[in-house]
Amino acid sequence: MKMIPAAVSLLRRAATAAAVLVLFPLLLIGWAEQAASLPVDRSLSEPLRNPETHQIVQNISKHAQGLQTEEDSSFRLMPRVNTDQDHMKICCLHANILDFYLNNILKHRGDQVHPNMTRLKVDMNRVSEDLQDQGCNVTHYQDHHHAVQFRRKLNKMAPEQGFNKAVGEIDILFMYLQDFCVLRRNATEN
Ligand SMILES: *[C@@H]1O[C@H](CO)[C@@H](O)[C@H](O)[C@H]1NC(C)=O
Ligand SMILES: *[C@@H]1O[C@H](CO)[C@@H](O)[C@H](O)[C@H]1NC(C)=O
Ligand SMILES: *[C@@H]1O[C@H](CO)[C@@H](O)[C@H](O)[C@H]1NC(C)=O
Ligand SMILES: *[C@@H]1O[C@H](CO)[C@@H](O)[C@H](O)[C@H]1NC(C)=O
Repeated sequence: MKMIPAAVSLLRRAATAAAVLVLFPLLLIGWAEQAASLPVDRSLSEPLRNPETHQIVQNISKHAQGLQTEEDSSFRLMPRVNTDQDHMKICCLHANILDFYLNNILKHRGDQVHPNMTRLKVDMNRVSEDLQDQGCNVTHYQDHHHAVQFRRKLNKMAPEQGFNKAVGEIDILFMYLQDFCVLRRNATEN
């Protein structure tokens, strides 16, 4: 009869050891997964990571592309940037272009053009304010050759035609802002 408590105790210890052996690697996997899923980059403005804003940008841009002539769809206003530069510089250049959109293009577009235009303007205004709060000096990029090139190409077009062309490229602008207006974060830091 003395054997039974000893056996039970042994079994318990074996079970505990087995549980530790099984659970410990699972815990490690869990931690590793948690660490890997931590965002490494974080965008500098909320609408840039908002899927609804993203969808509105896509919808409005596609709608404007549908209004342009075939000839207008054969070229691009938005400069192709060298992505090897400092990301914050690329971000602030596009913050300058965004500022131009808000003051010279979107100002002439209302909900009669597309029912979600007001919402788009509210979100893009927010992005512009956030980027300036994060240190983008919009006027500093006024004379950047890419900003100049963009305005020069646009000014060659008739106003209405130019507005549609520019709005048709707002998805490209949004993509640059999403990709480069981010805080690089080290995965090992927090
Ligand atoms: C985008 O357009 C699709 C169809 O054209 C529509 O179903 C969807 O609700 C729109 N989404 C937004 C956020 O505008
Ligand atoms: C406008 O946006 C809302 C959601 O924000 C969406 O349900 C609706 O379909 C959009 N309208 C159009 C015409 O895309
Ligand atoms: C922003 O840039 C302009 C032009 O380069 C400069 O004159 C101005 O001092 C800058 N403003 C700030 C707050 O750095
Ligand atoms: C990540 O952090 C380490 C140590 O703090 C540092 O040496 C390294 O340069 C950092 N990497 C980036 C991309 O910031």
